[in-house]
Amino acid sequence: MRINTTVNGEKRQVDDVWEGESLLYVLRERMALPGSKNACEQGECGSCSVLLDGTLGKNVQSFRTYLSPWSAHAPGAPSVVAQSGVAGTLSVSVSWNGATDVASWSVLAGAAPGALSAVASAAKAGFQTTIAAPTVGPYVQVQALDSSGAVIGTSAVVKG
Ligand code: FES
Repeated sequence: MRINTTVNGEKRQVDDVWEGESLLYVLRERMALPGSKNACEQGECGSCSVLLDGTLGKNVQSFRTYLSPWSAHAPGAPSVVAQSGVAGTLSVSVSWNGATDVASWSVLAGAAPGALSAVASAAKAGFQTTIAAPTVGPYVQVQALDSSGAVIGTSAVVKG
């Protein structure tokens, strides 16, 4: 079967379409239009939605996703792991799942858990930030700082 249609204002023709092929398959595989996705295969997520003449159609449910600014202060404390790095350094990896207000990290280190001082800092780099701290520790703690430099969270003391 041949299909002649207009997608996003562009006329298209597809040949040899089987009557049972889904619209999603024709769009993605035959027309190379990957905008609609096959996700849940249950009719629940809306990823495969296609607008026909600008609408989803009557009685078609869909979930819209909007990208909006949001912020959250995570419960608990940042997670930290310290491992031996190149000579004289510790490789300190830190994350705080859900905390959107972290701008940077400050690494404290010392020979005893009660005797730590700042040895390194770094801007937050995605979900997990790894910092080469110029210290042999072995004890390490990390502070989460907001954009004004205020401490908004402190990890447990770990041994590297
Ligand atoms: S893939 Fe179609 S609704 Fe989820």
